[in-house]
Amino acid sequence: MNRDYLDKLLQSKKYRDVCPDTVRRVWAACEAKYKKPKDADKAAREALHGITGAFLTPADAAACADSLRDWAVLERPDALLAEALRRHASTRERLPLRAMDALYGRIFDITGKPARVLDLACGINPIYLGARGHDVTGVDISAAAVGLVNGFAASCGAPVRAVCADLLCDGGIPDKRYDVALMLKLLPLLERQRSGAAARAMDAVNAAFIVASFPTRTLGGRNVGMAAHYADWMAAHLSAARSVAGTFETENELYFILEESRHESVPTQGSVL
Ligand SMILES: C[S@@+](CC[C@H](N)C(=O)[O-])C[C@H]1O[C@@H](n2cnc3c(N)ncnc32)[C@H](O)[C@@H]1O
Repeated sequence: MNRDYLDKLLQSKKYRDVCPDTVRRVWAACEAKYKKPKDADKAAREALHGITGAFLTPADAAACADSLRDWAVLERPDALLAEALRRHASTRERLPLRAMDALYGRIFDITGKPARVLDLACGINPIYLGARGHDVTGVDISAAAVGLVNGFAASCGAPVRAVCADLLCDGGIPDKRYDVALMLKLLPLLERQRSGAAARAMDAVNAAFIVASFPTRTLGGRNVGMAAHYADWMAAHLSAARSVAGTFETENELYFILEESRHESVPTQGSVL
């Protein structure tokens, strides 16, 4: 492994917010693919840019922290919570808060009210769930998102926590048991990072229910048949260990609620008298 290039990537201001395991994983894949370290470096930077995207800019993270601080010291007004959630591209799309309340109402009608939620590639979504009283563990490669979730928990005592980890690295998906695992707008991202990773991640989750969502509109807001595409994808990739307990579409997302398949009890063989 070329330590010089890797060290430069790890120390780069651009990626200091990204989980170091992700930087190492991407560098190793690019180094294996390209003969010249320079080409590997260029490819690694492009890949890292694609993974980290612009879900949460530093300015938005700072503004989010300000709103959450005010929310905790004032009377926890919904307007400030919405202001904070607006700062991440994914939670912004689910606002207003009454739409988020309706969304989770719909999900929990199917799963039952969960005692423990796992939120994989969480962004700042655990802040919404924590503000509504849910116990949530989040995982994300963005140190900024993880810092906001943990800062929020520290400021108001909400039962949420987040860890900075990569779902494609060993130990990235917690093996503890959860009632519901959220994989919101995640599976296409994982598949882009490593072929076959989305289905493997679903198989690795230890939860009674998985809630997976897919975007149904392009970044420009157009509806170009993405819902049908992802419905086909799910039908092709769902393992025998899970079945669909419910599916619905909101304005921007297609949701699947997957439950563990019930195994038919094997009939006892014996005398038929
Ligand atoms: C489209 S956003 C979705 C955020 C959140 N699930 C939601 O829907 O509100 C994708 C998130 O996945 C995270 N992410 C991307 N690749 C990841 C990986 N390999 N492991 C953990 N998190 C990842 C990004 O940092 C980003 O926060």
